[in-house]
Amino acid sequence: MPRKKISEQALVPYAVNRPAGLSFWNDIVCGDSEELLQKIPANSIDLIITSPPYFQQREYDGGGIGNEKRAEDYVSALMKIFRECVRVIKPTGSIVFNVGDKYEDSSLLLMPYRFAIAATEQCGVILVNNVTWVKTNPTPRQFKRRLVSSTEPFFHFVKSQEYKYYLDEFLKPTEEVKTNGNGAGENVGKKYFSLIEQSQLTPKQKEMARDALEEVIEEVRNGEVQGFRMKIRGIHSEPFGGQDGGRKIQLDKNGFTIIRIYGNPLKKDVITTPVESLKNCPHPAIYPVQIVEEFIKLLTQRGDIVLDPFIGSGSTAVAAFKTERVYIGFDISQEYCDFAQKRISGIKHQLSLWERNNEAKAD
Ligand SMILES: C[S@@+](CC[C@H](N)C(=O)[O-])C[C@H]1O[C@@H](n2cnc3c(N)ncnc32)[C@H](O)[C@@H]1O
Repeated sequence: MPRKKISEQALVPYAVNRPAGLSFWNDIVCGDSEELLQKIPANSIDLIITSPPYFQQREYDGGGIGNEKRAEDYVSALMKIFRECVRVIKPTGSIVFNVGDKYEDSSLLLMPYRFAIAATEQCGVILVNNVTWVKTNPTPRQFKRRLVSSTEPFFHFVKSQEYKYYLDEFLKPTEEVKTNGNGAGENVGKKYFSLIEQSQLTPKQKEMARDALEEVIEEVRNGEVQGFRMKIRGIHSEPFGGQDGGRKIQLDKNGFTIIRIYGNPLKKDVITTPVESLKNCPHPAIYPVQIVEEFIKLLTQRGDIVLDPFIGSGSTAVAAFKTERVYIGFDISQEYCDFAQKRISGIKHQLSLWERNNEAKAD
């Protein structure tokens, strides 16, 4: 089975387009981002994408923003960071902030919108979109008098109308199975049936795989999902990276896994994806690598520089590395920085093994 060729570039730091005075380069740095951002030259970063600590939601390992007593103080703390973000971003760049909400006395505080209003009013930025993340698996809670929150906003800001924008790259259907928006053709997924037969799965696993395949094909035909990819043990490459942890387990246990693609031919301001968890991760609140990848592809080109001033478990760096962009991440917690660093090193290592394996196969 042909595998995706990973560019050599993915394994080495980019030396091109490095702005003068920018000392961070594919780095995870431990410290207070308000101070670290000051070390970054003005107009030097292509994309800042981040999820700052939410208001009074969690005690993070290293303290930092989020534990203010009043909503106004939280917004002021965020604005100090945001002002620096506006300074360091290139005129062609973008800033994407994911901010969560909070209930107080059974009433929503509308924190994300308080922040977005302050950002536009105080920093003269343009708010291009409020992209809604729809969680397919929100935290299950049984409220008697309210619904379960299952969305979060990602605000896309720019400082000039020159911002880079690659709309075709956003939520792009994969090459493997895609529909044209009018429903899938008769052949959708057909090749997977023969791959299941060729595989070394047990008869029971083959039966489960065929059933799951029929189910997802039906979903594509009904327009519930835009496409999908199937991985079969022994036929396809293993997923790499922590985010794929759940898929690895499925591959081991069931012999196959199906990745649904909730694409969007209309390019609407919605991304539908599950909340993911990482094995052995000390961080309590991570966002999906897939969402970050979509913004990176929408707003930057290969080799561009992506910064996350609240890197946490390293999700932004993973997405930047996988899409062949330069990453810079800051976090106040040494524990999270160490974890993020280990996560990236693991992915680099697996990529290089994978690449070597491919080369050996090609010889
Ligand atoms: C919501 S989490 C980010 C999670 C990240 N997006 C991920 O996927 O893992 C926010 C992070 O901000 C960090 N933080 C809080 N205040 C900070 C500060 N002043 N400077 C740098 N990092 C800070 C916390 O340690 C926490 O890891």
